[in-house]
Amino acid sequence: MGSGLFKPCVHPDLRDVFSKMSFGDKIGFLFIHAFDKRNLWHKMPVPIGLLYLNTRRTLLEKYNLLPVGSSHGALFDPKEFLYRTGDGKYNDPHNAEAGSQNTFFGRNMKPVDQKDELMSPDPFVVVTKLLSRREYKDTGKQFNILAAAWIQFMVHDWIDHMEDTKQIEITAPKEVANECPLKSFKFYATKELPTNSDGIKTGYYNVRTAWWDGSAVYGDNEKKAKKIRTYVDGKLVIGDDGLLLHDENGVPLSGDVRNNWVGVSILQALFVKEHNAVCDAIKEEHPNLSDEELYRYARLVTSAVIAKVHTIDWTVELLKTKTMRAAMRANWYGLLGKKIKDTFGHIGGPALGGLVGLKKPNNHGVPYSLTEEFTSVYRMHSLLPSTLKLRDPNGQPDANNSPPYLEDIDIGELVGLKGEEQLSKIGFEKQTLSMGYQACGALELWNYPSFFRDLIPQNLDGTSRSDRIDLAALEVYRDRERSVPRYNEFRRRLFLIPIKSWEDLTSDKDAIEAIRAIYGDDVEKLDLLVGLMAEKKIKGFAISETAFNIFIIMASRRLESDRFFTSDFNEKTYTRKGMQWVKTTEGLRDVINRHYPEITAKWMKSSSAFSVWDADY
Ligand code: HEM
Repeated sequence: MGSGLFKPCVHPDLRDVFSKMSFGDKIGFLFIHAFDKRNLWHKMPVPIGLLYLNTRRTLLEKYNLLPVGSSHGALFDPKEFLYRTGDGKYNDPHNAEAGSQNTFFGRNMKPVDQKDELMSPDPFVVVTKLLSRREYKDTGKQFNILAAAWIQFMVHDWIDHMEDTKQIEITAPKEVANECPLKSFKFYATKELPTNSDGIKTGYYNVRTAWWDGSAVYGDNEKKAKKIRTYVDGKLVIGDDGLLLHDENGVPLSGDVRNNWVGVSILQALFVKEHNAVCDAIKEEHPNLSDEELYRYARLVTSAVIAKVHTIDWTVELLKTKTMRAAMRANWYGLLGKKIKDTFGHIGGPALGGLVGLKKPNNHGVPYSLTEEFTSVYRMHSLLPSTLKLRDPNGQPDANNSPPYLEDIDIGELVGLKGEEQLSKIGFEKQTLSMGYQACGALELWNYPSFFRDLIPQNLDGTSRSDRIDLAALEVYRDRERSVPRYNEFRRRLFLIPIKSWEDLTSDKDAIEAIRAIYGDDVEKLDLLVGLMAEKKIKGFAISETAFNIFIIMASRRLESDRFFTSDFNEKTYTRKGMQWVKTTEGLRDVINRHYPEITAKWMKSSSAFSVWDADY
């Protein structure tokens, strides 16, 4: 197709990439571009919305998966590894290392070097003037604090950057120093490593396993995994009170313990119980299985339950539109739906039968990893409120039919090791219920919790560091340090229409004024994190459309590239009981109900555990 003919239909900034596309891609591009220019796709009937999303995903998979590091790895026989290994190796039969601990983050777009602009504009100024919480904004009934903790639980399954030993110190300029809890702070640079391969020359290691393998519960390597096993019937250690146990330093015994708060700790504890219950169920059918065999089966099943909860429960509440509900269910069940899949198994390709259960994994020609841009769009610290409203699970319903309110507790008190101490007094039920009944923070400007601006970060082993950090300022710095394009270029690279003026970003006059005071009229300078928070949201979406585009590509990839969600998602690998367990779990509500039926029966009125529990929203 001559690109000249269609040139006038294509946004000038995207003409170059369009001209290099194949005929088929050009057709796909023109289709999505027509909707993008009119901001229309999400207002369309569900079938058209689904077609738009599918076309977009196909293009993104072609143009936005960039390998970092070698694309080749050791081959192995997958039949010898019908289980998830401790360090994530031996999942992709063509590349034993892919997705394992200490391998490179990939990229969704070429890096943009910003070494000369690390402090421009000053991160302290950006945060103080645009991000720091002023008046708390929440998400109404749509999304609760359990949902906020859930995504941190997932982040701790997927990503964490390896740090250098080199420390950097940044200092707040005079104009904002008085408003900054820390006038300066020290942190470790991200460790930059040569890739020794063509294409992208340097990159950063992910110290977690990138697979969706439940590593927040099980750990990212064999050593860690061993620490939390009982070595009896495949089970993991857990306290009699249903909470995580602790070592002599007060550090919780769990897979990932770094930079946690009690919200994540209770989810880890819940999924330890889930794992142990799966062990019991499988043992009942197969009494002769060894501890190791039971552990391996239960890890596969529990990881699949986590992935399913995220796909058809959490994400559906995050992006609450009919089209997104259909799209997320199609990722798991296919367009033919649950009934057909449960009865006949996977039929057809990814669209009809879903990604889960595909005959073969598909990494679209690029070894599986998570990406720098993925990290950036999950910078969602504003989801947390400043205080948690504790409620009494044993009290009588109040006038609103809700559990009686007890007291406010600062979230800052619930972070790290002191948080664990508090949790032992609060208990699982009160903590979970209180999180269920309270809306989480909105991802908007001026909503970044202040306790994060004076935070004790932790080492990988969960022990506290002596240098406190301003997490908000550090996040602005990190995206620049890791050469993640700034907001407008980020959009262009995803084939989204770039903004020409601040008015294209938001209709909020105060926001425009504040943004202009820092970035002038230079829309290219706008930091990604600020843009993601300022962008006018699609109705029903708790995140920006820009961030959503990374979700489109990476949410599918986490399922489709993984052998244990595709070719080995079967009774042979999971056991019959194990497959049944995954099939019959539809959301977090089911998991809570399995272990704490009295909470769901008495207090959970919402159909999803991730929306505020006082009403079916
Ligand atoms: C009280 C709860 C939390 C604490 C104490 C916490 C703390 C931290 C700290 C210290 C870092 C490392 C900063 C750096 O050195 O670059 C970090 C990174 C990050 N956090 Fe949080 N966080 C919390 C909640 C959340 C939540 C709710 C999300 C939501 C998705 C989240 C997403 C992330 C992401 C994506 C990163 C970047 C990881 C990377 O660089 O590889 N965190 N957090």
